[in-house]
Amino acid sequence: MSHKQQVVLGEVQETLLIPLYGRAVEARKPRSVLRDPRSVEMVDSIDYDFAKLDSSNQALFACAMRTAIIDEWVRGFLAEHPSGTVVELGTGLNTRFDRVDNGTVRWIDIDLPDVIELRRAFFGDKDRYRMIAASITEDAWLDEVVRSGGPYLLVSEAVLAYLAEEDVRSLFRRVASRLPGAWVVTDTFSRMLVEQILARDVRKVMSMKMLWTCGDPREVERWGVGARLLETRNLGQPQAALRRRMPPVYRVGMAVADRLGGRRLDGYRLNLYKVAEPDK
Ligand SMILES: C[S@@+](CC[C@H](N)C(=O)[O-])C[C@H]1O[C@@H](n2cnc3c(N)ncnc32)[C@H](O)[C@@H]1O
Repeated sequence: MSHKQQVVLGEVQETLLIPLYGRAVEARKPRSVLRDPRSVEMVDSIDYDFAKLDSSNQALFACAMRTAIIDEWVRGFLAEHPSGTVVELGTGLNTRFDRVDNGTVRWIDIDLPDVIELRRAFFGDKDRYRMIAASITEDAWLDEVVRSGGPYLLVSEAVLAYLAEEDVRSLFRRVASRLPGAWVVTDTFSRMLVEQILARDVRKVMSMKMLWTCGDPREVERWGVGARLLETRNLGQPQAALRRRMPPVYRVGMAVADRLGGRRLDGYRLNLYKVAEPDK
């Protein structure tokens, strides 16, 4: 009998195994964009046929790259606000706290109950870190985040696309009203990317449905929910500090991809927003 960790997850929740595996594959390489030994440990100890994801190697690398770009924004927030609160929405089995912990950040990881139950097999609440089992479409988690104290950074990596657009708007609205001045990092998937590329590469192994598509991250500003776009990047446009740390072959590859495949890369964007400032 296998002593590996069993996973029993809903359809959307199961998608967390893709970025987990993407980070582990990347972290195993001798020269990589990500240091992430815990992802490797988790992949080795979970009872799941990860090999069936190997044919989607571009998608796996994209997962590692987006994680690295988001980590860099989190480090930037912590440089300005070392004791701020970082909230990871739809955290899955992300290991971001381990990768960027500066010794003073307060951190809250949120996901649906079955995911948090699985997460608790690997991680425990501690001094500055805890997990909340909740849907981000509900309100109660916001009360707990407010109690943690600001400034706030909310991160959602490959999560909002699983919500209906109205739920995404409502989330921004509630965050602006309860956490004014918060930074919000999220990604946007164009309809073309979801319908053509992901349908071909990823949906052959998983049957999840992506609902919110967005071809232009400025659209969120136009919703009038109090969000201002501060930065937007595709995967070929990592921050300068990250680019300097990348293995040289990646640096060249990303620059070429950005120049030649810019439009295709633009279907997926990583975005940093700030929600309305508190009244002075
Ligand atoms: C593709 S996975 C990404 C996981 C993680 N962000 C990462 O990068 O490894 C999508 C995650 O969103 C979570 N999720 C989807 N809808 C959610 C909701 N309404 N509330 C909380 N989490 C949700 C899923 O359970 C899953 O963990």
